[in-house]
Amino acid sequence: MTYKRSIIVTGGAGFIGSHVVRLLVNKYPDYRIVNLDKLTYAGNLANLRDVEQSGNYLFRKADICDFDTVLRLMRQYKVDGIIHLAAESHVDRSIRDPFTFARTNVMGTLSLLQAAKTYWESLPEGYDGKLFYHISTDEVYGALQLTHPEGIPSPSHHLAYGTDFFRETTKYQPHSPYSASKASSDHFVRAYHDTYGMPTIVTNCSNNYGPYQFPEKLIPLFINNIQHARPLPVYGRGENVRDWLYVEDHARAIDLIFHQGKAGETYNIGGFNEWKNIDIVRLLIETVDRLTGKPKGASLGLITYITDRPGHDLRYAIDSSKLRRELGWEPSLQFEEGIERTVRWYLDNQQWMDSVTSGDYERYYEQMYRGR
Ligand code: NAD
Ligand code: TYD
Repeated sequence: MTYKRSIIVTGGAGFIGSHVVRLLVNKYPDYRIVNLDKLTYAGNLANLRDVEQSGNYLFRKADICDFDTVLRLMRQYKVDGIIHLAAESHVDRSIRDPFTFARTNVMGTLSLLQAAKTYWESLPEGYDGKLFYHISTDEVYGALQLTHPEGIPSPSHHLAYGTDFFRETTKYQPHSPYSASKASSDHFVRAYHDTYGMPTIVTNCSNNYGPYQFPEKLIPLFINNIQHARPLPVYGRGENVRDWLYVEDHARAIDLIFHQGKAGETYNIGGFNEWKNIDIVRLLIETVDRLTGKPKGASLGLITYITDRPGHDLRYAIDSSKLRRELGWEPSLQFEEGIERTVRWYLDNQQWMDSVTSGDYERYYEQMYRGR
């Protein structure tokens, strides 16, 4: 079969990547979708059980830092689009082990760019019809002030906790090794556009939540801990603010931008949905307790304030009006509805959670792919 498009999604076995792969495989049967993933602790093929038998889907276990393998796969599958999500993604891990973040996020992205350049420049049509789309984070912009601790209501927002927002023009000021490595990778992607004329797009998105998120991140970790009556470790006083987006809304934005975004551009993606950590923790407690038949407030005593994360960014808030104005994207879900859906998913998929927390899936796939 000849495919209309042939796309590599890197990091497709991770949290956001698996939602992007699922959307593309189901929506575009005439596209070939190649999921290229190293299967680190965060990559789990069980996230893609429902699409793995689809004729237009392929999985290839590979490291984005492995230039020769990546180039061979690009040639083999005549790839014309790359959606790059593979990364080390957890701030706390980056504080303990910054080198792994530099290796994958910086060197891995550079290696992937160079492989795409080598392959696409070897074709008669060159960069025509090609796109290198890099998925990044709002954390590259640093932290905003929290000037209104009680929150300012506005028609487009849940609440805003300050008057400034991250825009596409905001200066990069990363604070954690994670955000520093993502900032560096963003710069390399733009450099390949400006220097070599490669068609590239960068998007910077706010915090995602939803099914299949690794339970080291706030929302799935706390859902699991509430369910099992384990302590809920809240950094500092829980006053930090994040702007939350349901993962399927991010995947929809990625699909739209991949098809209609303008090469050389940057788009911010966010839900106009700022929440203080402690308010999220209370909402999670209320939801999990209700859905598991516990009395109201039964788990409030699990909240445990712990020493703050070093360099902890106070407030993130994305202005995604460029994406709304130019491409018509809007988030589809209210946060309370998204949280209800998310909590139900984790409660209904206890086996997924157990296999992830026990590390069983890593051992299983290590054996399966050994020597390949
Ligand atoms: P994740 O940690 O859940 O998944 C990362 C995936 O990348 C895993 O499948 C892992 O196996 C794979 N991977 C890691 N190193 C690799 C390597 N060297 N070669 C090939 N594959 C490798 O991450 P996520 O939360 O899904 O985030 C995906 C992307 O979106 C990242 O680039 C992240 O910076 C960005 N992002 C995440 C969020 C969020 O809230 N999670 C928000 C904005 C942007
Ligand atoms: P996280 O999910 O790690 O995402 P990020 O650091 O990329 O924003 O954390 C979200 C917020 O929750 C952040 O302000 C740190 C806080 N947090 C806790 O208070 N306790 C925890 O155990 C975790 C994982 C996060």
